[in-house]
Amino acid sequence: MTSRPIKILGIPGSLRQQSYNRGLINAAQEVAPQGVEVTMYLLHDLPLYNADVEAEGDPAEVTRFKNAIAEADAILIATPQYNASVPGVLKNAIDWASRRPRTGGDSVLADKPVAIVGVTPGKSFTEPAQIDLRKILKFTKSRVMPEPQVKLGAAPDRYSENPELPDEETRQQIRAALDALVEFITVAEAKAAAAD
Ligand SMILES: Cc1cc2nc3c(=O)[nH]c(=O)nc-3n(C[C@H](O)[C@H](O)[C@H](O)COP(=O)(O)O)c2cc1C
Repeated sequence: MTSRPIKILGIPGSLRQQSYNRGLINAAQEVAPQGVEVTMYLLHDLPLYNADVEAEGDPAEVTRFKNAIAEADAILIATPQYNASVPGVLKNAIDWASRRPRTGGDSVLADKPVAIVGVTPGKSFTEPAQIDLRKILKFTKSRVMPEPQVKLGAAPDRYSENPELPDEETRQQIRAALDALVEFITVAEAKAAAAD
């Protein structure tokens, strides 16, 4: 009997075509262990959150985004750092996803395992952005993987050979994060089963 693949939804927090952070999700797709499927969700088509729009029903793209999260076993977020925090496009996406269904119950982010990675050209290594992202995802009751924390600087050097895929050392760090995430999902599922 073959077990179903583990589904990971990779979300780059940047709209830039050759985004370094999108490159980390590309890397995750390339180095995913056997039995793990990484799909990428791009944030381009999500509207800005507006409670008036939401009151008339989620726009189609918001529904697609929420469904993609609901169907994933875990999320992998690659966050840039903007002004010492999370980029607006990423926060906007989380705000939409954090909303509970009108029919009741939890949001798709509640209890969802999440791994965070990030890369910047600068010397902050995305540390302040990742701290804020953890704070936000704690509020949404998501299960954020504590370790390894993949915080990377010197982005241009990592992409000197291919603007869309980082170097081998970076890919290995992403692979280590994916391996840890698979373990983390297993523990989260066991905890959820024990709570039932
Ligand atoms: C509005 C804005 C604010 C930024 N603030 C920071 C910052 O606080 N720290 C940092 O290291 N880089 C900062 N940067 C540089 C980004 O890290 C850089 O543009 C990076 O390439 C963005 O990620 P991406 O390549 O995935 O699009 C900022 C860039 C922009 C556009």
